[in-house]
Amino acid sequence: MGVKAVVLGAGSGTRMKGLLPKVIHPVAGRPLIRWVLDAVALLDPEQTVVVVKPDADQVRAVLPDDVMPVVQSRQLGTAHALQVALDCITLGPDDHVLVVPADTPLVTGETLGRLATLHRRTGSAVTCITANMDDPTGYGRVVRDGWDRVQRIVEHADTTTREREIKEINGGIYMFDGEFILDATGHVERNNAQGEYYLPDVVAILNAEGHSISAHLTDPEELAGVNTQDQLAEVASLMRSRINRAWMRQGVWMQDPTRVYVDANVALEAGVRLYPGVHLEGATSVGAGAEIGPDTYVKDSWLGPGVRVWYSVVRGATIEAEAEVGPYASIRPGAEFGEGAKAGSFVEVKNSAVGRGAKVPHLAYVGDAEVGDRANVGAGAITANYNGFEKHRTRIGDRAQVGSNTVLVAPVEVGDDAFTGAGSVITRNVSEGALGIERATQREIPGYAKRRRARFEAG
Ligand code: UD1
Ligand code: CA
Repeated sequence: MGVKAVVLGAGSGTRMKGLLPKVIHPVAGRPLIRWVLDAVALLDPEQTVVVVKPDADQVRAVLPDDVMPVVQSRQLGTAHALQVALDCITLGPDDHVLVVPADTPLVTGETLGRLATLHRRTGSAVTCITANMDDPTGYGRVVRDGWDRVQRIVEHADTTTREREIKEINGGIYMFDGEFILDATGHVERNNAQGEYYLPDVVAILNAEGHSISAHLTDPEELAGVNTQDQLAEVASLMRSRINRAWMRQGVWMQDPTRVYVDANVALEAGVRLYPGVHLEGATSVGAGAEIGPDTYVKDSWLGPGVRVWYSVVRGATIEAEAEVGPYASIRPGAEFGEGAKAGSFVEVKNSAVGRGAKVPHLAYVGDAEVGDRANVGAGAITANYNGFEKHRTRIGDRAQVGSNTVLVAPVEVGDDAFTGAGSVITRNVSEGALGIERATQREIPGYAKRRRARFEAG
């Protein structure tokens, strides 16, 4: 049996009232349609076609190379969308067509596999996926006959009061026998509440022609569709618990999994500890025993084993084992921390290598710099890397001690084991082992306070 897959993603998404096309809204960092395409790919279809709206460049941009977009120029309904797709598919005698809407990201590859198995076993003209939902509002309802056989599907907008009570909903996912589907979609009419060509009408059409129809009843969670912003939030929350549960099974500790946000592409090792308010996004990986949070955002970063990051923002950074970040640090792209290095409170580090065991404990800016192994950058020290036109680099040697409130005007170098005096504006290189100091000598004016008061009192 050959499977050709069709993903329907051309709907106008008007109920979202958003700026983005509906099917590219991210859930756990992955566009809705990518979740669906990933599940479909597990069935290894011979061909996958995605129905898109005209000018859907943002949708095309997230499609993998091996799927083919086809344009539905007017959104006349799901049956019409399938017809547009079938125009680009050559159906052999033993081919079957899997149809999945792009807005049900929770459906799994395993469930699609069960659909295919049931379809093959029963030899039905169409097999659908259904579920019993506590609140079926908005979904098509499955109407069964006295022998419990699926007869037809009625859209919510077209239900009678009695049909509205039906809890069994249509998931919008079907496997069709390729022999009948083209002809059946041709018989769909649009005399309904929404004036659209409904794909679910094919069920009643095939039924009337005497074909057999099967339904695979699944977990309602998998069929949750995204039509509105609150459904998007609901689906994202279900996906989040699915992801978090999977990580906890792998030995990740979460103090409160309802407040941990881990994107689909993140990798965690066993023994990672995540506190509430942690967001791990993009291509981030976290090593064994690392502790992240509370309240920390990490994107596209590599965090080694035993790293500790709390109340901080880390983007595009590499943080080696046992290094510590925060509280209240901003670690920006290109920052690399060696083993056991530290960036403390109110510290910003950008495009800089901070050596093994080096410390930037308080209130500092390190940009376009190399900080040597076991060097210390004092409170309030900054690298002045930008002269208004171009950026320059600063090099701080191994074991160097940059005094508090030092301004290192780049390009400049502080040698290994060198010191800078607190408050100095360093514009010239400091040699290895030397002290670079730049500030006026302190004077002392004795009796000043008394004289000052006398002047005030004299008026
Ligand atoms: C659809 C089903 C409903 C089912 C529900 C499950 C129809 C008529 N109804 O309702 O029985 O319970 O899904 O989630 O099919 N699309 C196009 N072109 C179009 C219209 C839609 O490509 O002209 C795409 C949409 O992008 C979407 C999918 O088809 O991904 C389903 O369309 P949508 O409007 O969301 O249908 P529902 O009202 O949710
Ligand atoms: Ca929908």
